[in-house]
Amino acid sequence: MDIYLDNAATTFPKPLCVPEKIYDYIVNNGGTSGRGAYEKAMLADGLVYQTRKSLAKLFNHKDPKTVVFTSCVTESLNLALQGILKPGDHVVTSALEHNAVWRCLKTLERDIGIIITVVPATAQGETSITDVASSIKPETRLIVFNHASNVLGTIQPIGAIGELAREKGILFLVDAAQSAGVLPIDVQTQCIDLLAFTGHKSLLGPMGTGGLVVNCDVDIHPLISGGTGGDSAYEYQPDYYPNHLEAGTMNVSGIIGLGAALEFLETEGLENIRRKEDALMDYALNALKKIPGIELYGPQDSSKTVGVIPFNLKGHAPEEIAYFLDQNCHVMIRSGLHCAPSAHRLIGTIKRGTCRIGIGYFNENGHIDALVNGLHAFIKEKNSCI
Ligand SMILES: Cc1ncc(COP(=O)(O)O)c(C=O)c1O
Repeated sequence: MDIYLDNAATTFPKPLCVPEKIYDYIVNNGGTSGRGAYEKAMLADGLVYQTRKSLAKLFNHKDPKTVVFTSCVTESLNLALQGILKPGDHVVTSALEHNAVWRCLKTLERDIGIIITVVPATAQGETSITDVASSIKPETRLIVFNHASNVLGTIQPIGAIGELAREKGILFLVDAAQSAGVLPIDVQTQCIDLLAFTGHKSLLGPMGTGGLVVNCDVDIHPLISGGTGGDSAYEYQPDYYPNHLEAGTMNVSGIIGLGAALEFLETEGLENIRRKEDALMDYALNALKKIPGIELYGPQDSSKTVGVIPFNLKGHAPEEIAYFLDQNCHVMIRSGLHCAPSAHRLIGTIKRGTCRIGIGYFNENGHIDALVNGLHAFIKEKNSCI
């Protein structure tokens, strides 16, 4: 039996309703959204709008029209950062960001001269609101933070940061790649102006889906221009939502699959999902701590993290461990640098990287047992070679 423990990269399996709805749409409908007056196209349109509504409900956002679809959170973050920031703008960010934020900021720093301040974090991935506050300058335009680190799992105090940003009149952009679908997110009470999410992780949808919730009236310059299915004689991108930020034929099948996943999440209940993943985390941490030579990183406390556990085994490369687990035990985990180099610097693994377990809703204790047995087998084999 294959055991999948790489859910922080992408969740697997998906609830069956996801491929079923996609199959049904492709086989029985196939119409494009926003471009046809025939029944099937309008049906497709309705299903896309339903997904916007479900996302708005999940994030407590008032207006589904300002839920903009993209292909992934990387695109959503680029859309927000490139579409808003101007030369000389100051941006506050964390030392835990994924390259989806960091490379975009560095490129804007090099190309148009934005100024970046990085808020420090502890080796556990914790940041302090005092440090965020002291990083703010008169020219600070935007704060961008991830909600949960993909290297350490640590949850950031986004509600407190949002309140601070709102008080100072600064835009607040959250990268919810690791949290959407597992932690409650409320753009209103947490004062989130822009929420970037991806469909294929804990939202349990297909790859190629993501979006940006625009909970403010800032002017965002579109990343791309093109057909929107309406006002075709107008020579620029329309200024109304969602068309302002959506051009070209949409990923209708993917969005319908995401819609099915959101229905599944609502039925299961976010609290139950979080409870199950927390219990699996506790079970895994407890078992992993007993493995000789293990180096565990991050808070090692399920209440402070999403389902991510980074670790190394003394004297062994993460790739060697992951390869052994896959080839000998059919256990799949991630190894290396997880696209967030500054988080690796915090824990001293910038050269070596780490192994990473990503726990998902469909994992069971038996999967953790298989991982732990695999690690014991790895150690035994290595010891026998000495
Ligand atoms: C915190 C964080 N941000 C951004 C991304 C990028 O996600 P995607 O590849 O779906 O754009 C990831 C993916 O691992 C992530 O964990």
